[in-house]
Amino acid sequence: EQKKRIDRLYEEGMLERNGFLRLICERDEPSAAYLSEKARLRQAEHFGKNVYLRGLIEFSNICASNCLYCGIRRDNKKAVRYRLTEEEILDCCRAGYAFGFRTFVLQSGEDPWWSDEKVCALIRRIRKEYSDCAITLSIGEKTKESYRKYFEAGADRYLLRHETASPKLYRKLHPLEQTLENRIRCLCDLKDIGYQIGAGMMLEAPGQTVEDLVEDLFFLKKLQPDMIGIGPFIPHSDTPLSGRKAGGVELTLFMLSVLRLMFPKVLLPATTALGTVDPRGREKGILAGANVIMPNLSPQAVRGKYLLYDNKICTGDEPEKCSHCMELRMKSIGYEISGTRGDAPGWIRRV
Ligand code: SAM
Ligand code: FES
Repeated sequence: EQKKRIDRLYEEGMLERNGFLRLICERDEPSAAYLSEKARLRQAEHFGKNVYLRGLIEFSNICASNCLYCGIRRDNKKAVRYRLTEEEILDCCRAGYAFGFRTFVLQSGEDPWWSDEKVCALIRRIRKEYSDCAITLSIGEKTKESYRKYFEAGADRYLLRHETASPKLYRKLHPLEQTLENRIRCLCDLKDIGYQIGAGMMLEAPGQTVEDLVEDLFFLKKLQPDMIGIGPFIPHSDTPLSGRKAGGVELTLFMLSVLRLMFPKVLLPATTALGTVDPRGREKGILAGANVIMPNLSPQAVRGKYLLYDNKICTGDEPEKCSHCMELRMKSIGYEISGTRGDAPGWIRRV
C-alpha cells in the first residue's frame, strides 16, 4: 500500500487528502527509504548533484513580534539584543563573496529601526557591489508598498514561512495580533510583485497533528512557492513553549522527500534546525531530496545572540570555517556545491 502511494506521488506529484494522511501516519523505515530513493531520482533529474549555497546574515535580533516558539520574541527580556550596522553587513557580504557565496539572505526580527528607506539603501549598496549575487530578504510581515520598494531597490527573493496552514494551530502558536490571514496576504503580495518566494512550516510544533501537515501540503500546492523551508520545532528555554518536546529528524526527512516529489523543481533547504537535532541532519536532508544549504555568515560576535531555539549549532564558528565545513560535508555524501546564484529553475526577473 505504502509503495503504491509513493509510486503515485512520484508519477502524479499529488495524492488526495486521505492518501497523504495514511502515507504520513503509516510511515516506517522501509517506506521512508523507498520514498527518499524516489526523491533523489527527482532531485537528480533537475539538479544533478548540485547543492546551492546561501549565506545567512542575521543582522538584527530585535523583534516587535511575539511568536510563542521564538527565542527572540519581544517578551523575552533575557535575550541580549543587537543590530549590525550597514558596514558590518557589507563586511559579511565581502567575506561571503570571497568564499564563493552568490546569494545573501538578510534575516532579522521585525525591527522597526530598519525603516524601508534604510532597508532599500542597504539593498542598493549590496546590489551595486555584488551585481552577480541574489539578495534574499527574510524580515517578516510588511505592507505591499514596502515589499515593492525593496524589490525595486534590487531584492530578488523573500523568505516568509507560513509556519502552519491550520488557522487553529496558528492561533495557538501566536499572539492575537498576529494572524494567518496577514501572513498569507504577505506571501501573495510578494509573489504578485515578482519575488521568488519561500514559504514553509515548522514540524512537530506543540499541538500539531498529521491533519495539520496535510493542510500545509495542500496550501503549498495552491501557493506554488519557489522555495520551501521546513524544519523541526525546537524549544527555547525563555519562551512560553519552554520544556516542550523537540521535533525529530525522521519526520523532517520524510516530509522533505514528500515535498521533492510534489515540487520537483523547488528549492528546498536542509536547515540549521535539522542540523541541530542531528549532527548529520543536513547531509541526511540532502539525501532525502533537499538541494540548498544556508551556512551562517553572521559575525562571530553576534552569532550566539540570534538564538531562535536552544543548542543552535555553529554559534561559535568563524564564517570561513562554516563554508569549508559545508563543502566537506557535501563531498562526503557525493554532492557538490554549485558556484551559481541558484535561482528557481525557469525564473526570470520582471521589474
Ligand atoms: N522575522 C522573520 C519572520 O518571522 O519570518 C524572520 C526570522 S524568524 C526567526 C525565521 C524562522 O525561524 C521562522 O519562520 C520560524 O519558522 C523559525 N523558528 C523560530 N523559532 C523556532 C523554534 N523554536 N524552532 C524552530 N524554528 C523556529
Ligand atoms: Fe520575531 Fe521570532 S518572534 S523573529
